[in-house]
Amino acid sequence: MKTEAAVKVLNRALSVEYAGIIQYLQNAQLVQGLNRELYEELFKKLSQECLTHASKVGRWIVLLGSVPTVEPGAIKQTTDLNEMLRCAIELEREAYNTYVEALKAAGENPPLRFFLEEMAYDEFMQIDEFERLLATKTFNVPTKEIKLRPA
Ligand SMILES: [Fe+2]
Ligand SMILES: [Fe+2]
Repeated sequence: MKTEAAVKVLNRALSVEYAGIIQYLQNAQLVQGLNRELYEELFKKLSQECLTHASKVGRWIVLLGSVPTVEPGAIKQTTDLNEMLRCAIELEREAYNTYVEALKAAGENPPLRFFLEEMAYDEFMQIDEFERLLATKTFNVPTKEIKLRPA
């Protein structure tokens, strides 16, 4: 493993997580409308998840002998809920891609690979959640009415 290369990508992942902490917290403050309470909670939870990820990534950077970055990546700000969700999906995709990239740089280091796979998995599932929230996935329901067979 080229430690230097892996640390570089891990620091980029850390910047994305830091951006997420701030962006989601800002969303929680700014979200308006009938579902405000619901989304305030969701965004706070997401901000917390980014903090958890950031702590774990930072720990790995130190473990690999480097100092973690303190610079967040780009933070997107809006008052429109749909825009918030679109920005969120972008952020989660960026995080996912960065962890996949880090995995390529990780080489033969099983614990680091397990960690990065877990991170990529978390981001992947969050992307799916946001896609559902934005209703970008369409399903064909084959049967509108299901009748159970009479006994
Ligand atoms: Fe994350
Ligand atoms: Fe995430």
